[in-house]
Amino acid sequence: MFSPASHSRLTGHDVDRFPDETLFDRLGRTVCRAGCLPRKELYEAWEMGRRVRRLFRGGRVLDLGGGHGLLAQVMLLLDDSSPGSIVVDKTLPPSSLKLHDVLVHTWPRLDGRIAFVAADLDDVEILSADVVVSSHACGALTDRILDRAAAARARVAVMPCCHNVDAGDAGGLSGWVESPVAIDIVRAMRLASHGYRIWTQTIPGAVTPKNRLLLGAPL
Ligand SMILES: C[S@@+](CC[C@H](N)C(=O)[O-])C[C@H]1O[C@@H](n2cnc3c(N)ncnc32)[C@H](O)[C@@H]1O
Repeated sequence: MFSPASHSRLTGHDVDRFPDETLFDRLGRTVCRAGCLPRKELYEAWEMGRRVRRLFRGGRVLDLGGGHGLLAQVMLLLDDSSPGSIVVDKTLPPSSLKLHDVLVHTWPRLDGRIAFVAADLDDVEILSADVVVSSHACGALTDRILDRAAAARARVAVMPCCHNVDAGDAGGLSGWVESPVAIDIVRAMRLASHGYRIWTQTIPGAVTPKNRLLLGAPL
């Protein structure tokens, strides 16, 4: 059983699981060669990235709380009209550069277009033309990202996780739906109240149970 939700690292032993010449399988084989990426991160970045790119083309990509930064790079592979991506994380995994190197080896056009910034996401300027993405920014970090993107009038896509059911704003809806869902509904309505068109989607639950994707673009 090869579960896409596994935290196991993809290694050279897994290359044969990605036999085709599709972009996804080429990505899978490349990531295996890095030998450092948890399997779930491949599937999460791919499933989120392709949904975001169906709606948001171009723009500089800001991957906030980006970890290994695979999402930032998938965004460029799926739409090369973006000038580049910035991965911002207060603690960048040392293996993020190893992963980037193997991706550049397969796709030389990524070279020089991904910046890795070890910083608090509040220290990074967001421009209105940016596409802000964040996969699994824990708890209130997702709210900060939505607030900062909305303040800049940038397009934004978040896939929240680690909902704090005590401190998060469930909008009084917890009697009808589970608190994490209520918190995400309030987030979506708040983004809409900032003058955003919103989209609510999911990625496959087999990849992650934290699979709600909220996207917004200024009206
Ligand atoms: C659950 S991980 C998600 C990583 C990656 N986006 C992914 O989907 O695999 C959350 C990340 O947010 C980063 N982080 C937490 N607080 C942060 C902050 N204030 N500014 C920037 N990054 C932060 C952590 O270091 C961590 O890498």
